[in-house]
Amino acid sequence: MPEENVIEAERQEAYIEKCQTAVAQLKKELGREPKACVVTFGCQMNARDSEKLSGILEKAGYVLTDAEEEADFILYNTCTVRDNANQRVYGRLGVLNNLKKKKPHLKVALCGCMMQEQAVIEKIKKSYRFVDLIFGTHNIFQFPALLADLYEKQEMIVEIWKETEEIVENLPVKRKYHYKSGVNIMFGCNNFCSYCIVPYVRGRERSREPKEILREIENLVEDGVVEVMLLGQNVNSYGKNLEHPITFAALLKEVEKIEGLKRIRFMTSHPKDLSDELIEVMRDSRKICRHLHLPLQAGSDRILRAMNRHYTKDQYLALVDKLKREIPDIAITTDIIVGFPGETLEDVEETIDVVRRVQYDNAFTFIYSKRTGTPAAAMEEQVPEEIVREGFDKLLKVVQDTAKERAALLQGKVMEALVEEVNEQDPAFVTGRLSNNMLVHFKADRRMVGKFVMVALDTCHGFYYTGRMVDWMGQSKHTRLGKMVDDQWLN
Ligand code: 5AD
Ligand code: SF4
Repeated sequence: MPEENVIEAERQEAYIEKCQTAVAQLKKELGREPKACVVTFGCQMNARDSEKLSGILEKAGYVLTDAEEEADFILYNTCTVRDNANQRVYGRLGVLNNLKKKKPHLKVALCGCMMQEQAVIEKIKKSYRFVDLIFGTHNIFQFPALLADLYEKQEMIVEIWKETEEIVENLPVKRKYHYKSGVNIMFGCNNFCSYCIVPYVRGRERSREPKEILREIENLVEDGVVEVMLLGQNVNSYGKNLEHPITFAALLKEVEKIEGLKRIRFMTSHPKDLSDELIEVMRDSRKICRHLHLPLQAGSDRILRAMNRHYTKDQYLALVDKLKREIPDIAITTDIIVGFPGETLEDVEETIDVVRRVQYDNAFTFIYSKRTGTPAAAMEEQVPEEIVREGFDKLLKVVQDTAKERAALLQGKVMEALVEEVNEQDPAFVTGRLSNNMLVHFKADRRMVGKFVMVALDTCHGFYYTGRMVDWMGQSKHTRLGKMVDDQWLN
């Protein structure tokens, strides 16, 4: 790690100590433990950032809670990829205004992608003046310093950076799950898809050093983690700008070697950069999950060009063919946008054609949202709402039908699941995730959370299964819990 980053991490440590004094004082005043609540909007990147922010709050002395109404400190980690993400934040801020009137000592902080937009900051300064602290995506490592400031100042603190080269390692982290974790491998994005605000709010691409990533994963594994999700806006261009360049596929090979790590996932892959080397590494790996999220966005060559995606429909389809040929059991999921400027219903038919041919296991479909500052926002032919709706509904139906058909193919199979959580509706059940990302609900003890089990996929419910635990020979085994715990690592 560069010298200046070590110094920065130490500096923030010192601020955490300062925060501890302030939080201890608050505890005295309240006569109870002060509580903090972090609410995450948006993607896996944000979820991981929230774990870092929660780690800092916990270290400062707060007890973490999911109940906003109980909290003495509320932090919204925001997203701005589509306008409805912004609107949700404004809606909830209205509620917080009332909460703060009842509880004047409540501190409200905002961070994340939405805060990188000047117009948002103006609006908050004008209409939500009760907010105590605002910071952006580039300086979350400064959170301890900002938190310490918060106890000393009365006025709103706004600290947004436009860009950063810095990657500060080794800040405290509070993981949401004890058995799995996201791991950032890179930050930012250089692709500039014409509809997308991410490059403007997350900055230029910066890769972490492989040795830092490997060390983090080794530590996580030592701490009980069995599955990691490697995170980046475009993992396929990982490592290109490092002092000693390395490919994403080569990084995966190194991660694979970490003993005790059982599953590797990654997100997100840009089709234009997906290499043959990566396909080979996935094919030959025992740990990389049989799932690839490969955003299509649109099926019409004309729209793909206007989106600045750098591939054609045929190139995308050829890539999927290659993937399926090399890794027949792979599940492919995607993101699709409907209503990009100039898109006609014929263009949407091209997208639907890709969906039919690829047979996605799942597809996230979005209505185009105009983001100020992006090239697409300045394009003239914004599509009328009723045309967008018509194309969207038609696409959604095909997406759902094909996903159901794909899911049904697993009927009756016995597959390995990682138990993720106790079922909310019925605590006698747990939810497990298969390598291909499919969820299965089955009866099991809550102590199985974080363990691998074999599950018979009995009934398909469209997008998930209900099943039963079996042993490695396919026999029912929910009566032999003790034994099952013993042989969970047989694979
Ligand atoms: N409008 C609608 N959807 C968008 N996405 C990104 N930007 C926009 C936008 N302006 C979608 C893309 C991306 C996913 C994370 O969000 O499909 O893959
Ligand atoms: Fe994630 Fe993009 Fe939303 Fe930021 S704007 S939280 S990077 S999806």
